[in-house]
Amino acid sequence: MTAAPKPEILAAFEAAKGFMPVDEGLALYAAAVEAGRLGLPLLEVGTYCGRSTILLADAARAAGVTALTVDHHRGSEEQQPGWDYHDPETVDPEVGLMDTLPTFRRTLHRAGLEEHVVALVGRSPQVAKIWNAPLGLVFVDGGHTDEHATADYEGWAPHLAPGGLLLVHDVFPDPADEFTGQAPYRVYLRALASGAFTEVSVTGSLRVLRRTGAGI
Ligand SMILES: C[S@@+](CC[C@H](N)C(=O)[O-])C[C@H]1O[C@@H](n2cnc3c(N)ncnc32)[C@H](O)[C@@H]1O
Repeated sequence: MTAAPKPEILAAFEAAKGFMPVDEGLALYAAAVEAGRLGLPLLEVGTYCGRSTILLADAARAAGVTALTVDHHRGSEEQQPGWDYHDPETVDPEVGLMDTLPTFRRTLHRAGLEEHVVALVGRSPQVAKIWNAPLGLVFVDGGHTDEHATADYEGWAPHLAPGGLLLVHDVFPDPADEFTGQAPYRVYLRALASGAFTEVSVTGSLRVLRRTGAGI
């Protein structure tokens, strides 16, 4: 049976700032519960305000592992002022830049999940460079340029344990559907072509792959 979050966790997810639709959230949760059985941390690239982190954190709590979430909290390209995905509430008026860290902290606190999450505040490639431990799940939902999506894949996928799950968000095979570029799609194709990953499920723009071989 597919694992589903309790109503209060789903309600916290739906109430949180962010863009992930419920069907993708349910697929993320089910994958996180399954990956949690490996007894290893679950890692997300792209925290934003913590919407998806809620689901990873609850799955981590159930498995007795830690959810890790990486973000510099200054927003992606499409979230900057003047772009479609900008939310003026995320701007720190004192410094005049986006800062999603306070909202993320409130989101997790309200959901009662703070103690199950370690927030890594910094640039994903810089954090990945000093990371040296196996992971049960890697969820790539950071920057959408080829530079960022590729760096996230190359930085974090090598740490995915055998049987671990690689999740890629915003995969749009049809250029007509995409809104911020097809870099995540190219990362997904690269992972499949590597022979190291096998597709498990497709839900909206979320792809779940399992590590079934070595390499990236
Ligand atoms: C699409 S949002 C994440 C959405 C979140 N997973 C959710 O479902 O609510 C992408 C996030 O990635 C972060 N980001 C983009 N490039 C990054 C990088 N190179 N290092 C760290 N964080 C990055 C942005 O600051 C932004 O908060």
